[in-house]
Amino acid sequence: MTDKYKILFVCLGNICRSPAAEGIMRALVEREGLTERFEIDSAGTYAGHRGELPDIRMRDAAARRGLTLTHRSRPLCEADFERFDRIVVMDDMNYENAHRMAPSRALSDKIHRMTEFCRRHPGRTHIPDPYYEGHEGFERVLDLLEDGCGGLLDALKKEEKA
Ligand code: 4NP
Repeated sequence: MTDKYKILFVCLGNICRSPAAEGIMRALVEREGLTERFEIDSAGTYAGHRGELPDIRMRDAAARRGLTLTHRSRPLCEADFERFDRIVVMDDMNYENAHRMAPSRALSDKIHRMTEFCRRHPGRTHIPDPYYEGHEGFERVLDLLEDGCGGLLDALKKEEKA
């Protein structure tokens, strides 16, 4: 990590999973004193919630874990593929939509699945969409995202040493 490490989390609406991942990653990076080394943002492949704060159910669940989510939903755009080093998606639909939007094959190599970095949930392939779920769905998403963000940060720290 020579310059700032730029990470973009992507889900469908950018009101549940990806803003939560953004908040969790910010907190982890801050705890390790690495805030200045990172740029962390999130976006959605669907623009219908543009400008909105995260879903109140996700804000409440995150607040119970000490996180305040203040991101405003925004759509993923082509320029994001140039600007960010890593684009971390939540599920197959995000993965396919992000690939479709990537301006080039080389830039699409920046797309990763969040579950690649999950260590306590082996075999998982996606972070489930909690939008039509109850309270437990949001808690499960936060558990998975905490696992994935921790794994992602460790992977980046190892990259720096390599
Ligand atoms: P997210 O959740 O992709 O984790 O932000 C959703 C938010 C909104 C919708 C679906 C999923 N929606 O259908 O509006």
